[in-house]
Amino acid sequence: VEFREFGRTGFRVSCVGFGGAAISGEGGGYGFGEISESDAIDLVKRAFDLGINLFDTAPIYGFGESERRLGKALKSIRDKVWVISKSGVSWHPNRRVNMTNDPKVTLQMLEQSLRDLNTDYIDLYMIHWPDQQVDIRRPMEILAQAQHEKKIRFLGLSNTNPGDYERASQIARIEVLQSEYNAFTRYPEEELWPLVKAHRLGFMSWGTLDKGILTGRVSDEKRKFDPSDARSHAPWWKSQDRSWKFRVVEKLRPILDEFEMTPLEACIGYVLAHREVSSALCGARTAAQLEGIVAAASKTMPTELVNEIRSLVDQYRTV
Ligand SMILES: NC(=O)c1ccc[n+]([C@@H]2O[C@H](COP(=O)([O-])OP(=O)(O)OC[C@H]3O[C@@H](n4cnc5c(N)ncnc54)[C@H](OP(=O)(O)O)[C@@H]3O)[C@@H](O)[C@H]2O)c1
Repeated sequence: VEFREFGRTGFRVSCVGFGGAAISGEGGGYGFGEISESDAIDLVKRAFDLGINLFDTAPIYGFGESERRLGKALKSIRDKVWVISKSGVSWHPNRRVNMTNDPKVTLQMLEQSLRDLNTDYIDLYMIHWPDQQVDIRRPMEILAQAQHEKKIRFLGLSNTNPGDYERASQIARIEVLQSEYNAFTRYPEEELWPLVKAHRLGFMSWGTLDKGILTGRVSDEKRKFDPSDARSHAPWWKSQDRSWKFRVVEKLRPILDEFEMTPLEACIGYVLAHREVSSALCGARTAAQLEGIVAAASKTMPTELVNEIRSLVDQYRTV
């Protein structure tokens, strides 16, 4: 795989990153259905063998299961990879999600992630989501101290906005942003990339495959998902109007044929065609999916096709 600069960190990362929610398995939370621990560990090792050096996770992925599996899989190669985790999406004892950037929770989550990942440090630690109730500078103070203690190498913000970026930067240097970005979701181009360019930040996309919609894995509402797959019950999935997206994917098919590109190549190529992106996170659940992703990332995306996809999306978008 191609390697790209990761902001000002001085490091280069693989242009596709391993999406750790794919190994949440029966742990549930934010996850994509069953996968055994040994299959999950093999998958992570296979990713490394294919050249991937960036592994993204968070406590809510399997309620700690993704981090624990990642920790086991990466033990012998810990210093050769980037491990990314996040604070702020916590949960109550009954497992109801509790989104909070309360600094006490931030510290508890960081300490728990270090234990679950079985590591002394996390390469990139991010605040997962903004929280209207808490000034972002408060959790940032905790994280700056943890960085000073070498528990964190670099800091980042996920799903952020320019105001929070400015406030957080008053406390410590932010190196990387992460947000949803794909052919359907373009807000980072206007909201975040001016920051990425002005401050030379790294940027990671999530939802690169739009949870299988862009690749055709989810092509109508008939698909049945495992109970531990968030797509079987999550409110953000249930309430989403996907019909216009299915229409775009269908209309795109003959265009892709002309360009001799597959849907997988096109959705990864679309994201990577934008040089602001350092790495596109992709959630592979099997070795075959992972190999497909790595192969697709090496295909050159014609600018003409990027433009065709943009106008098709503009034509069909209803939300
Ligand atoms: N910061 C945040 O708030 C945030 C939010 C979401 C995700 N993320 C990160 O981003 C990662 C990936 O994003 P995502 O969770 O939105 O999922 P995604 O990568 O957009 O989609 C994953 C789905 O794409 C399908 N897929 C995978 N490989 C494929 C292939 N080779 N060919 C065709 N289809 C393929 C699979 O569908 P099937 O399962 O149906 O086969 C898979 O479950 C996560 O694991 C996580 O690390 C971060």
